[in-house]
Amino acid sequence: MRESGGRLKNRRIALGITGSIAAYKAVELLRLFQNEGADVRCLMTTSAVEFIGTLTLETLSGRPVDSDVLSLQGDGRIGHIAAAHDVEAIVVAPATAHWLGAMAHGLAGDPITAACLATSVPVVVAPAMDGGMFSHPATQANVARLREFGYRIVEPETGVLASGMTGQGRLASLNRIVDATVEVLGGDASSAPIVATSTVATSTSPAESRTPARRDLAGRHVVVTAGGTAEPIDPVRFVGNRSSGKMGMAVAEDALARGATVTLILGNHSVEPPALCNVTRAETAAEMQAALRALTPPEGPRFDVLVMAAAVADFRPRTTSATKIGREGGMTLELEATPDLLAETAERVRDSIRTAGGRRPILVGFAAETGSLERAPEKLRAKGVDFLVANDVAEPGSGFGTDTNKVTIFSRDAEPEDLPLLSKLEVAELLLDRIVVRLAAAGGAAKGEVPAGEVPAGEAPAGEAPAGEAPAGEAKR
Ligand code: PMT
Repeated sequence: MRESGGRLKNRRIALGITGSIAAYKAVELLRLFQNEGADVRCLMTTSAVEFIGTLTLETLSGRPVDSDVLSLQGDGRIGHIAAAHDVEAIVVAPATAHWLGAMAHGLAGDPITAACLATSVPVVVAPAMDGGMFSHPATQANVARLREFGYRIVEPETGVLASGMTGQGRLASLNRIVDATVEVLGGDASSAPIVATSTVATSTSPAESRTPARRDLAGRHVVVTAGGTAEPIDPVRFVGNRSSGKMGMAVAEDALARGATVTLILGNHSVEPPALCNVTRAETAAEMQAALRALTPPEGPRFDVLVMAAAVADFRPRTTSATKIGREGGMTLELEATPDLLAETAERVRDSIRTAGGRRPILVGFAAETGSLERAPEKLRAKGVDFLVANDVAEPGSGFGTDTNKVTIFSRDAEPEDLPLLSKLEVAELLLDRIVVRLAAAGGAAKGEVPAGEVPAGEAPAGEAPAGEAPAGEAKR
């Protein structure tokens, strides 16, 4: 029976089912959507029909299943065009390697690809297949292409597959697929699901459930700052901001999943950090500065990548009272600017490379803007970073505290890249994809396995310096 409430109340969803053994799970997915209040119609490929037939889905959805790209509805409209126009989201689960390839290339040979091509509503895709098939570069390229379309990919999980082998290819837990659908429809996925249980698949935590096919950061040391700094006024009050730490933790989580050693320099936060990070607490800008300085000694930086997602307070009280200030007489706060930690770190890195050699790490800043991103190119230059990820924190679903973010990635040698509204984990994945490419282009030894204090100077040829800076090879000694 359908619930009257739910996170998808009265939302119209097309569930596209393709020919994977996981197709049987679509029946339960349909029920979960209905339990959340959604009105669901099903589209199937002919091979999906081979696996599970149409009768169960037609009975449960109360609607005919469209499995023929040429079929007409009772009202004379072509089925897949009607679906494209009548629904508010299309969810493809399971999505086979073949379907991903067809969709990536716009080949409308089945009602699901045809509906996706014809629609402008959000599309959620949950791949399921053999682990080798999923990790193949062709499949990965197709998944990347779908991401470029703005499709929300719900990554498959690692576990025992239909073949009996273990790998990443098992359809994501159905609750994750429902949550992703709630999110793309602008709902709050963290609010309680109507039916929280799925008998089909389990997932203990996002970090454990994701194992990307590529461990392309294995042996690398990635440092991430996350959360907001809190600058004390007195023992109970501070100047701070609303950073939850989610964006930085998403970067840390994806870097871990790609095989990196991750150090998280963590300010004030409201979510727990991934279990496998080395966490250094840094409540104030001064503490964060000390942690960054420890990682950038004169012998050379102790990391391959630095991502500064933290919201470092720009101002702090000039003095801090040792005791709680009473409310009598009001309060006038004198603030001073904090040091620019990212610019300072970039400078320390450059100085150490000039004197000791070694390869320059990839440096990434975030920029919190409101209303316009026009200041971002100047921040990119002024901070001396490779990438600046700008988010308009006044946009709905973007910036502080949200599970999603809409960012533009500025880099010093390419056009700015506008990404659609994505989950913070997806933003992290796309950012790290670009960092990996930049790392590969720079080459050089990794720091991931090097114990603190043992980074040898001059271990690799000097890396390319950022625009406007002296290349390390020409630097003064
Ligand atoms: O934590 P969440 O709730 O998930 O929110 C994510 C976020 C909005 C905090 C994140 O996406 C973000 O935008 N982080 C950067 C916030 C910020 O400080 O922006 P900024 O434009 O003021 O600073 C630009 C860069 O310089 C940042 O990388 C910042 O870490 C760094 N900075 C800023 C000030 C300062 N004194 N020292 C710095 O190093």
